[in-house]
Amino acid sequence: MCGIVGYIGARDSVELLLKGLESLEYRGYDSAGIAVFDGSDIAVRKEKGRLAVLREILKDSPVSGNIGIGHTRWATHGVPSAKNSHPHLNNKNDIAVVHNGIIENHEALKKFLQEKGYTFISETDTEVIPNLIDYYYEGDLLKAVQKATKKLDGSYAIGVVAKAEPDKIVAVRKDSPLIVGLTDDGNFIASDIPAILAETRDVYLLNDGEFVTLKKDSVTLCDVDGNPINKEVYKVQFSAQASQKEGYDHFMLKEIHEQPQAIRNTLRGRLDKDLNLSLDNIKFSDDIKKLYIVACGTAYHAGLVGKKAIETLAGLPCEVCLASEFRYGEPLIDDTTAVLVVSQSGETADTLAVLRMAKKLGNKVYAITNVVGSSVAREADYVFYTYAGPEIAVASTKAYTTQLVAFYLFALSLAEQKKKVSQTQIDDIKNQLLKMDEVASSVFDKTEQIKALAEKIAGEHDVYFLGRGLDYIVAMEASLKLKEISYIHSDAYASGELKHGPIALIEDGTVVISICTNPDISNKLSSNVKEVLARGAKTIGFTSCLSDTAAYGDVLELPQIDPLLAPLPAIIPLQMLAYYVCTAKGFDVDKPRNLAKSVTVE
Ligand code: M6R
Repeated sequence: MCGIVGYIGARDSVELLLKGLESLEYRGYDSAGIAVFDGSDIAVRKEKGRLAVLREILKDSPVSGNIGIGHTRWATHGVPSAKNSHPHLNNKNDIAVVHNGIIENHEALKKFLQEKGYTFISETDTEVIPNLIDYYYEGDLLKAVQKATKKLDGSYAIGVVAKAEPDKIVAVRKDSPLIVGLTDDGNFIASDIPAILAETRDVYLLNDGEFVTLKKDSVTLCDVDGNPINKEVYKVQFSAQASQKEGYDHFMLKEIHEQPQAIRNTLRGRLDKDLNLSLDNIKFSDDIKKLYIVACGTAYHAGLVGKKAIETLAGLPCEVCLASEFRYGEPLIDDTTAVLVVSQSGETADTLAVLRMAKKLGNKVYAITNVVGSSVAREADYVFYTYAGPEIAVASTKAYTTQLVAFYLFALSLAEQKKKVSQTQIDDIKNQLLKMDEVASSVFDKTEQIKALAEKIAGEHDVYFLGRGLDYIVAMEASLKLKEISYIHSDAYASGELKHGPIALIEDGTVVISICTNPDISNKLSSNVKEVLARGAKTIGFTSCLSDTAAYGDVLELPQIDPLLAPLPAIIPLQMLAYYVCTAKGFDVDKPRNLAKSVTVE
């Protein structure tokens, strides 16, 4: 997803902008550019491709200056190309803008500006912004930006520099993240904290509608009418090192191995060894009769596990919905329902839209998120942080397993409130949860076996995953992981559904991976595995309970644990499988094609 960095201060801005953009590379992008005031003009360098391409351009055509804005673009309107890359200029080339988000009424604004004589060279929605600012400019950049944004519909984080006012950057956000980094020798804007972590931990977290004027030695904030805003400096807790690879080949592998620690972090302060449970003062009123769990992608899969845990332990009915569907559906929200959104980044556009919609309808919104200070965290009524630490790889791993821990804690807390199951049963789950870090670690002993399995399937075109009950959810998440980084076509099926269609896909040599962690239904899965074996499938079992494993080609043993908790350790070897298939194929693990870490547009 697009990234923004801007700097004004005593130092040359170019390297600071490039370094900042490099630390946002994990978000995914297809082009990059910078605009720097060089003392007489605004010099723009931009190109399709990685930041390395931009660095080459800057070698041939260097620029320097103490004020600049930079951007990495992930194409939405118009193909990746130099002309569509940011920064965008007004017609007079004296106002430059970087923008994250989407201007929904850009066609109407373009027409309006064309009627006033403005011309456009890109296919982007963004190009209307510098021209609109130019249209309103009467010697005060901040006022012109304020007037221009009143005309914009959609989402934006914007950074602006103008040749006529070379002592400032003006920036503003609406529905797209933007922060300000404060240092002794200059100030930054950025779309995400890692961009400025090498320089400072002192930041302002901007809210929607807050305008900021950065000068080399001051930062002032105001609203759209110019009323001053006072803001507290937020001290970032995680280190720049925490966003580095620390000896692992890739962030994904590092994050897979961080899971035991991440699980401990999620549990810390919430569940102690005496089995006292506290949920950060999060309360569920007894009037709530149904919980909507809403999320996207991997977080949605966490929600599916969460539903099972909450319904089993607490008897509270849950409905799990994809945020992109929920927001345009007609959910039956009333004062007996509550909404729980799940989002690693806390910035996912669809999830955030659901949060706002639910609040507008008067529902209490609960959030499980990893990113402190994210939009979801700031806008939800109750926030539960997973504390997994920064997740850089696009493929979510530790964020997912810590979301599962969060759901188990929610389920246990609700169980104590609802008293549907016995305290002995609750305590048993609590005890097993406290040992989950060790259980997760034990999976790493299987690394060589997982690598060998990965070698076997790296050349396949299709891989199918099967499971029943919670194992079906593990299958869905495993399938998502495999396809997003290895580009192997993959689907997950509830194994009972095989006969209703999918079995037609099985032919000689088709790879079928089955997951089985629940002894009560393992014989059912066994029958399904035999059905695909009979049709020539190559089967691989990830199991803690299949008895007749001899029938399988390959079997990876999963740790023994209560079936309700089994999705957590079961997914780890499957994350590793996806990882090693991807590396065997030589693909970019951390930045898979077409994907972005944080999907801040719908
Ligand atoms: O930041 P979020 O948890 O809201 O992100 C949701 C999805 O975009 C995310 O889980 C995505 O599916 C991952 N790339 C999967 O690995």
